[in-house]
Amino acid sequence: MKLWITTAILASAIALTGCQETDENDPPSLHEAFEGKFLIGGTLSDSMLENASDPGFAIVSKHFNSLSPENCMKWGNMNPLLDQYEWELSDRFVEYGHNFGQEMVGHVLFWHSQTPDWVFEDENGAPLSKEALLERMRERARLMAKRWGDRIKIWDVVNESIEGDGSWRKSKYQQILGDEFTELAFRIAMEELPTDAILLYNDYGMTDPGRRDAVVAMIQDFKSKGIRIDGVGMQGHWEMSYPALSEIEDSLTAFAATGVKVHITELDLDLLGRGKFFGANVDIERLKADPATNPYPDGNLPPSEEKRFAERYAEIFDVLLKHHEKIDRVTFWGVSDLTTWLNGFPVEGRTNFALLFDRQFKPKPAFYRVLETARKR
Ligand code: G3I
Repeated sequence: MKLWITTAILASAIALTGCQETDENDPPSLHEAFEGKFLIGGTLSDSMLENASDPGFAIVSKHFNSLSPENCMKWGNMNPLLDQYEWELSDRFVEYGHNFGQEMVGHVLFWHSQTPDWVFEDENGAPLSKEALLERMRERARLMAKRWGDRIKIWDVVNESIEGDGSWRKSKYQQILGDEFTELAFRIAMEELPTDAILLYNDYGMTDPGRRDAVVAMIQDFKSKGIRIDGVGMQGHWEMSYPALSEIEDSLTAFAATGVKVHITELDLDLLGRGKFFGANVDIERLKADPATNPYPDGNLPPSEEKRFAERYAEIFDVLLKHHEKIDRVTFWGVSDLTTWLNGFPVEGRTNFALLFDRQFKPKPAFYRVLETARKR
């Protein structure tokens, strides 16, 4: 751990000293540009946590003041077997963020995906009772609170338990706990995490009217029962023409009207698009890359596409800034196009374009357009 953190700090310091010569290598800090509006976050992937010299650290330390773990804290990554715990990467994540004064996010306590089967089964492979599953969930929350409760402030308590039509997702959690799964999960979080922890419900497709209305109803229900919910995470895995900006505004307004804060938790823009696989449901069957689904395999985007991408980012940030008093944080899901999860979803191994930094870790035209939106205000 000591060697890793020292190396990661050195890799990060390059950007903070601003010793590069050209504007491209030393652009203004994104989070400083949005100071007073909302936090600007990013993620640490497992590969960064395994390689302290990753060039992404220079971006993270300079441009982000909040950090989420892309994968290492998920139940299956952290606790793949009943008695097996993998703390190393998560400990590094927390240590790094703490060293750089980042607002840390715990992602994610309870998600139907990336949760091993053993969580839902007894020693004979039979489904657990409701009480036994709740005890396992409580144990997980308790362990995380004990280990990182003083350093992680924001928690994604439940991820993606509501379908686009507003119904509860038919997950293993739901099969055992029924429609009360999300409520019970928040009760556990409220009881086990520190009292000043910020508890979020996090989902994709939060601009779909069915899901939006269901989330609003859930927050009102929780509040009427005295169950703490402090915010909603609109993941923001968006595309070039979906969702409409008006739908984003409608959701920001609807969620804020319930008295909670909005966090844009996983922002990226899928330039190539997902076609019928809208959303961020990682459980779908992947397609294979071909010239139709992978038009720019060498990573060179025509200037017209680069411009279109930058414009869309700028339009989105104009909307977010217009509603900034409703928003606490905007987190990008990744650091650069080199490692965005959209290179593998829903088409395996294609060359996609999703973030503000390119495959050489240089700021893209979209970076400067986003920066401009902040300067206009
Ligand atoms: O680490 C293994 C590696 O050892 C192996 O060689 C490789 C072969 O496929 O897989 C690697 O693991 C992959 C991991 O990402 C790291 O790249 C997993 O297969 C893959 O399933 C995993 O995908 C992650 C996905 O969640 C599922 O956990 C993505 O990185 C991550 O960006 C994505 O994030 C989710 C949020 O948590 C919740 N909201 C949606 C969002 C996007 O799907």
